[in-house]
Amino acid sequence: MKLLKNIWYVAAWSHEIGESLTTRDLLGKPMLFYRKRDGTPVAMIDRCPHRFAPLSMGKRVGDNVECGYHGLQFDCSGACTLNPHGDGRIPQTARVQTFPVVDRHGLIWLWAGDPARADSGLIPDFEHLVSPHLKTIGDQMIQNANYELVVDNLMDLSHVNYLHAPYQQVDDFLRAKHDVMQDGGTLESRRTVASTRAPQSFQPFLADPDAPVEYWLNIRWHAPGCCVLETGVVPVGEPREKGLVRLGTHIVTPVTTSYSRYVYASSRNYRLDDPLADDETKRWQQMGFHEQDKPMIEAVQTRMGDGDLLSMRPILLATDGAAIRARRLLAAMIEEEARINEPAPAALA
Ligand code: FES
Ligand SMILES: [Fe+2]
Repeated sequence: MKLLKNIWYVAAWSHEIGESLTTRDLLGKPMLFYRKRDGTPVAMIDRCPHRFAPLSMGKRVGDNVECGYHGLQFDCSGACTLNPHGDGRIPQTARVQTFPVVDRHGLIWLWAGDPARADSGLIPDFEHLVSPHLKTIGDQMIQNANYELVVDNLMDLSHVNYLHAPYQQVDDFLRAKHDVMQDGGTLESRRTVASTRAPQSFQPFLADPDAPVEYWLNIRWHAPGCCVLETGVVPVGEPREKGLVRLGTHIVTPVTTSYSRYVYASSRNYRLDDPLADDETKRWQQMGFHEQDKPMIEAVQTRMGDGDLLSMRPILLATDGAAIRARRLLAAMIEEEARINEPAPAALA
């Protein structure tokens, strides 16, 4: 699996990682996570360099991990600190690969590349997840599909009028003004319908559910699979600041070429303490993500088999612009990274 390495990936929600040893497959590797006694998260390969036992089957000894098979101990830098056998000498190769990790915005971010280049300033902004002015409800799921197919689904939101009809359907949406903008390695797709009936998902929370509203749907993509989706409605003629807005978190982390981990959340600016609004969010996430998006994306993966999307020459429609640009941008970033890491050609004699 060709992956961008020098970038932050989401490994878990922060609350999933505690002091106990937690294993999770990510980026084609078995990973071990835990928190040190001071709360700092740690990530390392979940495989002992002796006989390759999962370290997650061992135990914590202070901030270190003891392998459950023959007792080697490793510290948070991956160095072996104890060999209980023979003269106790520690072989030079007794080391486990570790990864920089950062706990931010309620998420555990993992740097997959050169640790010396791990700059936490490059973590995309998901501060809305912890904003006291929004109510956030989230969870996660597995997608039996390549992570780029999941990103495609997010970057081409024309599917809401079909796959998510009638709940999210919006009249005139498919002909709406649609702009795609690029800022460095970030893409933003913006759609606006100047006047329409609010989708069903907003109607219970509007004073007059039948009154015409301005509707907008903007999605921002950060390579390789981190998206923020802003959906809003406001009575026609009112400023957007007065509207009902939901910020959707959609983050896909590859596991294998056809298996991905998908973290999602919805952060709303209305009815923060209303349990009915919470229930509506959970109902939508179950119906929309688990029962509508997931089966369709997985069926697409099955139909595609091992095929590469662009090599299969799909028909491209006006709505495909953002998804195709994201794919091309990511491919260029991966290629550039590989080129920089290639050993310099030997000098001519
Ligand atoms: S497999 Fe870990 S100490 Fe032997
Ligand atoms: Fe969807």
